[in-house]
Amino acid sequence: MRLDYLTIFPDYLAPLSLSLPGKAVAKGLIELHVHDLRSWAHDRHRTVDDTPYGGGAGMVMKPEPWGEALDEVLGAGGPDQAPATVVFTTPSGEPMTQALARELAGRERLVFACGRYEGIDQRVLDHARTLAEVREVSLGDYVLNGGEVAALAITEAVVRLLPGFMGNAASLVEESHEDGLLEYPVYTKPASWRGHDVPPVLLGGNHGAIAAWRHDQAVRRTAERRPDLLHASAAVSGEWAAVPAVRGDAAELLTLQLACWVGEALVNGDLTLPPLQEGLDDVTASLSSWDTYVVRSAGRLVGSVRGRLDGRTWEIGRLMVAPDLRGRGLGRHLLEHAERVAAPEATAYRLFTGAASTANLRRYKRAGYSVREVLDGPSGPAVLTKPRRG
Ligand SMILES: C[S@@+](CC[C@H](N)C(=O)[O-])C[C@H]1O[C@@H](n2cnc3c(N)ncnc32)[C@H](O)[C@@H]1O
Repeated sequence: MRLDYLTIFPDYLAPLSLSLPGKAVAKGLIELHVHDLRSWAHDRHRTVDDTPYGGGAGMVMKPEPWGEALDEVLGAGGPDQAPATVVFTTPSGEPMTQALARELAGRERLVFACGRYEGIDQRVLDHARTLAEVREVSLGDYVLNGGEVAALAITEAVVRLLPGFMGNAASLVEESHEDGLLEYPVYTKPASWRGHDVPPVLLGGNHGAIAAWRHDQAVRRTAERRPDLLHASAAVSGEWAAVPAVRGDAAELLTLQLACWVGEALVNGDLTLPPLQEGLDDVTASLSSWDTYVVRSAGRLVGSVRGRLDGRTWEIGRLMVAPDLRGRGLGRHLLEHAERVAAPEATAYRLFTGAASTANLRRYKRAGYSVREVLDGPSGPAVLTKPRRG
């Protein structure tokens, strides 16, 4: 792989010859060329910036030096050269990710264009697109003074993925982001240090248990620190916390309700089921007349249930679990929660389900409910009750 860098601070890129990229050069895996952009500026002061059209603070990098530099560097390999990808480092680019590092590691030539001041005249990028593939890449949602640090970081992420670069290729596979998760915590000897012990599972030699522990730790870490990386279905840990719903939950409750009751409507052949008829105002209003609880996973509202007193009976309703998370015990957990929080004067629980909802009926019977009656309606519904014990 050939890597070129266009910058007004070539010295800033000195670390390229250190550490791992330096080793990759020594191994013949990469070729590095750092260019001073000012060598394509022809006035006495070797000017590379000018005031912005339209006004505003700061200076903009002029197109002429960049245009000449790109023409020359992109043509440097002669007519048979491999096609290049030009990476413009910019805070308004696509985020740098492990997936992008993998993609760039597959290229034969990368040219890094390091901006300074308020950035580079847009026509430079438009021109570059006529010559090569262009990627605008951001290191993160913050602003650096120049693109050199970004170019160094991108280089390091890319070069360590080149075949033959890492001594132990397996160490690449297990890292953060490779499987969409952050890495689990790692430990080395001694087993006990300053009162902190290595988790016993890592000392036991049971590889299945170690793999399960590591996966669990990776999921927990990701859910805690980067819930945006995790689909809620992967974050399921079995540790559900049902908390009282607030008005801000209403929109998600409505969405979940619609997702859950479409299936009920189909099974019972009844599209007039109340949960499908309600709007946001109805759900918001219900929060005042029912004790509603919600469970969130990785930030997403994935389950809910509500209860209220009717005479001496605690009526439980709208027991719902996100369709992709069923079969993991969340429904049972919500039902038990709804029973636990029943008003003290309640002597029995009551809930309703469609007469044709066989899976629900089975579940409720398993939880100790029995069908009292089937009401007269398109879907039944069946009324189930259970005496309160203890
Ligand atoms: C001061 S910044 C210019 C910021 C620009 N005015 C803006 O708001 O998008 C100067 C140069 O630093 C580099 N830079 C700054 N933040 C960056 C980031 N998060 N990722 C990649 N490059 C960055 C870019 O090359 C940019 O042209």
